[in-house]
Amino acid sequence: MTTDQDFEIFVVTAPGLEAALCAELQAAGFRDPTPGLGGVTIRGGWPEVWRANLTIRGAVRVLARVAAFRALHLAQLDKRARKVAWSELLRPDVPFRVEASCKASRIYHAGAAAQRIERAIREELGAPVSKEAEICIKARIDDDLCTISVDTSGESLHKRNHKDAVHKAPMRETMASLFLRQCGYDGTEPVVDPMCGSGTFVIEAAEIAIGLQPGRSRSFAFEQLASLDPAAWQELRGAGGGATAGPASPAIRFHGSDRDAGAIAMSRANAARAGVADLTEFRHHAVSDLTPPDGPPGLVIVNPPYGGRIGEKKPLHPLYQALGQTLLARFSGWRVGIVTTDAALAQSTGLPFETPAAPVLNGGLRVTLHRTGPLP
Ligand SMILES: C[S@@+](CC[C@H](N)C(=O)[O-])C[C@H]1O[C@@H](n2cnc3c(N)ncnc32)[C@H](O)[C@@H]1O
Repeated sequence: MTTDQDFEIFVVTAPGLEAALCAELQAAGFRDPTPGLGGVTIRGGWPEVWRANLTIRGAVRVLARVAAFRALHLAQLDKRARKVAWSELLRPDVPFRVEASCKASRIYHAGAAAQRIERAIREELGAPVSKEAEICIKARIDDDLCTISVDTSGESLHKRNHKDAVHKAPMRETMASLFLRQCGYDGTEPVVDPMCGSGTFVIEAAEIAIGLQPGRSRSFAFEQLASLDPAAWQELRGAGGGATAGPASPAIRFHGSDRDAGAIAMSRANAARAGVADLTEFRHHAVSDLTPPDGPPGLVIVNPPYGGRIGEKKPLHPLYQALGQTLLARFSGWRVGIVTTDAALAQSTGLPFETPAAPVLNGGLRVTLHRTGPLP
């Protein structure tokens, strides 16, 4: 592999959101996006890798598939791993680590496989191995085929680096952005979250409206790779890091409320750090006191408390009922998206939901987005 060749790029997302991520990649002009389990494959070179990390809101991480070869035993793995052009990929002065997995293969010991590849890279390139290294090489051995990828993101991309303060059970930014997309949000309508916690939906919606790049305030693992072209990367990063003239009319605002005063303080602080304080309004009140903002209707999107264990759900039905009643009484013309773990809780709202979206795995829980068309 050389740096000017195209290769496969796997953009990871939460299982269940592959189609939504695929639509985002397509809209952003990436070539041949193909959904698979847990992500979407695109083709491209390093500039596409950098751009996906910087601009794709639904991407959790971006893996560059740099080599693939058959390996029937550990000695062969060692020999073939040494033939990869590591010097085009890794820097001899930057620590790295290897993670391996084995499935339906003659090589079945993932730890031994990782150790062989680590040793091969260390001896061929001279780069140090460290368990804490940000640079992670992932080797997947499936049906005796070893696929080698480099994780080009580092920390999960939901960490936009604007959220110091998190309320309990925050929604990940990557998921929030794809739920907004699944609700048909395109940055041109107001958004209301009446149980906003740390403000994730409201802040994502405002950023989308003014075209802020999700990765503008963070660093990425690829900045430490030998394949980086610093000038080209700086040019890309500079091309839209600040607020651009986005599609939103200045009249459109993004609104959050919560009955928890601490949550409202956090939302305001997070919005200020993200640079969208002027576009967002956060109020401290319960959902029953919610009224629509002045102006055209838009989207209400919310993830109410789920109640983790059996027995904790029952007391939540009145809360979902209150949410539904308030929206039906006061939000005529607005669409609604509710993210919850439990279809019965969603039904308690009495809202006219369409067929739900595919369930999404979120930290061991299955959450589902329930959507309505414009309310009567
Ligand atoms: C699962 S959290 C929402 C997390 C949020 N999406 C985020 O990203 O941080 C649910 C929120 O509902 C709020 N809440 C619970 N009952 C409420 C009520 N009756 N009125 C308004 N907010 C309420 C809680 O304070 C909590 O912040």
